[in-house]
Amino acid sequence: MALALRRGMGQSATPIIPQSARTDGFAAPSTGQNMGPGISHPAPATLRKQVNASSLAQFVDPLPVPETIQPVGHRPSPDNPAVLLSYYRVSMRQFEAKVHRDLPPTRQWGYASASPGPVFDTRSGQGLLVEWANELPAKHFLPIDHNIHGAEADKPEVRTVVHLHGAKARPKSDGYPESWYAPGKSAVCHYPNRQDAAMLWYHDHALGINRLNIFAGLVGAFFVRDDIEDALNLPRGKYEIPLVIYDRLFDLEGQLNYPVSSDPKSPWVPEVYGDAVLVNGKIFPYLEVEPRKYRFRVLNGSNGRAIHLTFSSSSQAQWFPKFHQIGSDQGLLTAPVELTRVRLSPGERADLIFDFSEYAGNNLVLRNDNFNVMQFRVAAKGARDGSVLPKSLRPVPKIAESAAVKNRMLTLGEIDDAQKRPLMSLLNSAHWSMPVTENPVLDSVEIWNFINLTNDDHPIHLHMVRFQILDRRAFNVNAYSATGELKYLGPPVAPDPSEAGWKDTVRADHGMVTRIIIRFEGFTGRYVWHCHILEHEDNEMMRPFDVVEGC
Ligand code: C2O
Ligand code: CU
Ligand code: CU
Repeated sequence: MALALRRGMGQSATPIIPQSARTDGFAAPSTGQNMGPGISHPAPATLRKQVNASSLAQFVDPLPVPETIQPVGHRPSPDNPAVLLSYYRVSMRQFEAKVHRDLPPTRQWGYASASPGPVFDTRSGQGLLVEWANELPAKHFLPIDHNIHGAEADKPEVRTVVHLHGAKARPKSDGYPESWYAPGKSAVCHYPNRQDAAMLWYHDHALGINRLNIFAGLVGAFFVRDDIEDALNLPRGKYEIPLVIYDRLFDLEGQLNYPVSSDPKSPWVPEVYGDAVLVNGKIFPYLEVEPRKYRFRVLNGSNGRAIHLTFSSSSQAQWFPKFHQIGSDQGLLTAPVELTRVRLSPGERADLIFDFSEYAGNNLVLRNDNFNVMQFRVAAKGARDGSVLPKSLRPVPKIAESAAVKNRMLTLGEIDDAQKRPLMSLLNSAHWSMPVTENPVLDSVEIWNFINLTNDDHPIHLHMVRFQILDRRAFNVNAYSATGELKYLGPPVAPDPSEAGWKDTVRADHGMVTRIIIRFEGFTGRYVWHCHILEHEDNEMMRPFDVVEGC
């Protein structure tokens, strides 16, 4: 293959990167305006003077790989006291760490004093216990909006509760947003791990301030492994690397700079996009790799930014090497999907295999749209690659639509003020505190239709369950808003091959009805479903649901 690989340097200075508003999965060119996906969102954000991240030197910090956490002991299982489970203890603490060589250390909050926190490497079928201890200071360092439900001034400023995203856990271990606790307190969660190999992630879920706690750094990766995955002989050990990607804004002192609205009485802003993209806690890191296959476990942990990743020779290059996606949110796909680009909304994960063997002695960059994210320096030589890219991975049996006992029509909406500025987003026109309306029966199958009436794409996440995407279909939003009648504007569009496996978060595109099919397997009790754009989730775009016993 004749191509000139250059070092991906020399990118010109750019302002805050806008979110692409397009739904076809391809990057819109940067307009340089700080706007969310909906053009109706002027996002009247004000910021302290901020560092221009694109002016920072690129590829001067090695990519950190988070440590794997070890248990501190064993304790009896809540399911069966005769069985001892691994017991972990993680304290949430404030700490300082450098996000870039040329910035002063940044104050952050992290699990085990790191952001991202330590990696959990666990086995399917082997439950574990984690004590999550809130050892944070009593004061928050990011702007709380006390008008938001659950974040009123009579609540402690600092509140946390940990959710393991993608886990099948009982309600009391699931991190219910109202089950927060203040500094000095802790909670022990039981994760039974009765689920397939997948990349899960843990993060904060405290009602009304979740966006701030996560922006401060409370995220980490969690792997479930099983025999089916082991038997595939995928790249492992130092050849399997988590890439936890999120965007942030920094002020001139290198401190996190969370924007506020122009109204000091209601600081909430509808979306936050940072111009600095961090991978495992560093801006523009580099990774030295061998010319062989690597497995990258990618998470989009951004508050609001959808990312569109390519591997290339530089930010200017128009040529994109192929790679394979082997898994998504809830585990392996049926077979590898060949891609040049992968799109991830906040909360989504992709399991990728990239083969560097053709690029020995060269550099590649990982790009988000037209911006460099990190660099891979491929060594001239390496040890023999004994790993394989299998032809098939794991069966994903389709749930038949005929199995569904219920078809729920659920709107995604937004309430604006007189100036058309968003005040909040709602699911099915209901606030968080209204009575539960979604109450599936344990083990039953339902189809949920997300009728997106807004100008935004919303990544919708359900706790406890995994699901499959059926299709997306354009509809007449104005007609629906006026009469409640659903008029489709075209045929249903099947999910991309890279979304065709088990999911727990689905992109509900604007102007579309997105259908998912879910079997409510696991446990009864109260869980939540919500938009994973954290500014939406915190401001009413989250609802409880009850899994109930059948009769
Ligand atoms: Cu990633 Cu309700 O969570
Ligand atoms: Cu979750
Ligand atoms: Cu949303």
